[in-house]
Amino acid sequence: MTPEEIFSFNGKDGNPVYIAFQGKVYDVSKSPLWSKGIHMNRHPSGKDLTGAISGAPHGPEVLERYPHVGILKKGVPEELKHLPRILQDLLQRFPMARRHPHPILVHFPIAFLIAASLFLLLHSLFQRPSFETTSFYLLLSGAISSPFAMTSGLLTWWINYRLKLTHSVKRKIQLSILLLIFEIILILWRSLNPEISLQRISPVYFIMMLLLTPMVFLLGYYGGKMAFPDENPSASIS
Ligand code: HEM
Ligand code: HEM
Repeated sequence: MTPEEIFSFNGKDGNPVYIAFQGKVYDVSKSPLWSKGIHMNRHPSGKDLTGAISGAPHGPEVLERYPHVGILKKGVPEELKHLPRILQDLLQRFPMARRHPHPILVHFPIAFLIAASLFLLLHSLFQRPSFETTSFYLLLSGAISSPFAMTSGLLTWWINYRLKLTHSVKRKIQLSILLLIFEIILILWRSLNPEISLQRISPVYFIMMLLLTPMVFLLGYYGGKMAFPDENPSASIS
């Protein structure tokens, strides 16, 4: 069977549930753990799952409980067909690069910008200039790491969602643009007023800095809605 052929054996619309492992195709339709075409809420059927077994609490011996119905022919998996050849080759060689870079990179702006808000809050409470200086350096670090998170977001959207403009993606793009604008304004503002830590901080600057926290929170929230749709029944890909 080719990757395209097994792609439709995914348990949907009454189709059987096939999975491929190390070149062999198995029919797991009778397994209650694959009944919805998806295993443990994360592994979809109709594809080669060889790489995924390393994260399972069992070995490949469980597959022997089910009939071996074919051999998987080599070919480009259906879910990579929309990408240029060079990217298909790269992702087949390094399957980890498909979904991991974005969630890895988003940690940096999330952590730096929340900490930037927090340190400005501490400065307003304790009037310590070092807290304000720390907040500024955290803002700079957040601003440097944000474009990397955003670029990887656009990439994961292309690779895994075929650039389909869902409600969550729309919100994420709007929030990302807003975040970049806030970062630029705040950095320019602070750079042109280096004595800010010794004076009373402008309420506008203070509020804009505090707003960085809900912005990254919402970016993560909409991302989580996409990455874990099964845990969020109200999230429809519209
Ligand atoms: C993190 C990933 C995974 C988790 C948490 C997981 C968990 C489990 C658990 C708890 C069972 C029941 C144990 C048993 O019956 O002995 C099971 C069974 C099974 N798993 Fe997984 N698994 C994972 C990944 C996979 C993958 C990648 C494959 C396919 C390559 C797979 C194929 C199977 C099969 C065929 C069974 C037997 C089902 C049955 O007898 O009804 N699992 N899995
Ligand atoms: C600083 C900006 C951003 C932050 C902090 C952020 C944060 C996150 C987080 C926390 C997740 C959940 C990831 C997971 O746990 O697997 C996520 C997923 C996602 N984000 Fe972003 N994101 C940002 C920008 C973007 C942009 C610009 C896009 C492009 C449209 C985007 C597209 C996505 C997509 C498609 C997912 C789902 C990934 C998957 O299902 O594997 N993100 N994001």
